[in-house]
Amino acid sequence: MPELAYVNGKIMPISEATIPIEDRGYQFADAVYEVIASDNGKLFCLDFHLERLERSMVALHFPAVSIESIGQAIVSLFEQAAIPRAAVYVQISRGVAARNHAYDASTLQPQIVMTVRPIHEAPAASRENGIRVLAFTDNRWGRCDIKTVQLLPNAMAKQAALDAGANDAIFVSKEGIVREGTSSNLFIVSGGTLFTHPLTPEILPGITRRVVLDICRKLRLSVVEQFFTLEEALAADEMFLTGTIAEVMPVVAVDDEPIGNGAVGEISRKLYAELKRRMREEGDIACPARSTL
Ligand SMILES: Cc1ncc(COP(=O)(O)O)c(C=O)c1O
Repeated sequence: MPELAYVNGKIMPISEATIPIEDRGYQFADAVYEVIASDNGKLFCLDFHLERLERSMVALHFPAVSIESIGQAIVSLFEQAAIPRAAVYVQISRGVAARNHAYDASTLQPQIVMTVRPIHEAPAASRENGIRVLAFTDNRWGRCDIKTVQLLPNAMAKQAALDAGANDAIFVSKEGIVREGTSSNLFIVSGGTLFTHPLTPEILPGITRRVVLDICRKLRLSVVEQFFTLEEALAADEMFLTGTIAEVMPVVAVDDEPIGNGAVGEISRKLYAELKRRMREEGDIACPARSTL
């Protein structure tokens, strides 16, 4: 079960992988990325991740990169590593050039790097008892729907939450609208209906969010994509985060205020169980039909 890296077509141990210091991803965060998880030896929702990767590249005016060949490279790296429960990280930068904010698109060649590693599972206690989060004012740029490596606000908020004894942070707009987690989307359950932020430039169109919406429809749970405030979230019966690594992670307190009765809710448990079933049993087939993310 080797952890492996891929650099522009070559596969090697991660410790041997290097990139030039003038990669624009390194100097300007001028790069996009995806994280794809596997369970039981099956990559989950690879097509959706490829579709979003392409969308991110188009949004940043990257030159066309064959998404099919990236998909093949991901599968081949995953198969060589033979790690049944893996996270494949894929990053594509605009290219390498002498440091200058402006770029000459005609001379740049996108740089493709990947790693594959085992997923370290969230502690059983977090899944069983839920996690505690802190709310931070959203100080990110206006295109959070593009999955760029520009993640400093996310990293700082997560670290501040951990330093304060919580498990994660959530972003709330200046007007009080709850956006998303540092690496996850957010749902609340209120009076039997689920609410999640609509797809706008302020949040990432999460793949797990999309799958969870599909599961809700199949289970005939009432769900709406609608803004909600921190005040409304604090009055909710349940809250959970969704993400490729978080999966469906119950949140039982925000800023030390309990959500519902402070225990993991029934709907959160049910959705987690169904997501895991799809990942383990159905792998890629489990994705709802392709459509615009
Ligand atoms: C800011 C942010 N929102 C949401 C998500 C969840 O997206 P996905 O379910 O595709 O992993 C992520 C994942 O990394 C993220 O970084």
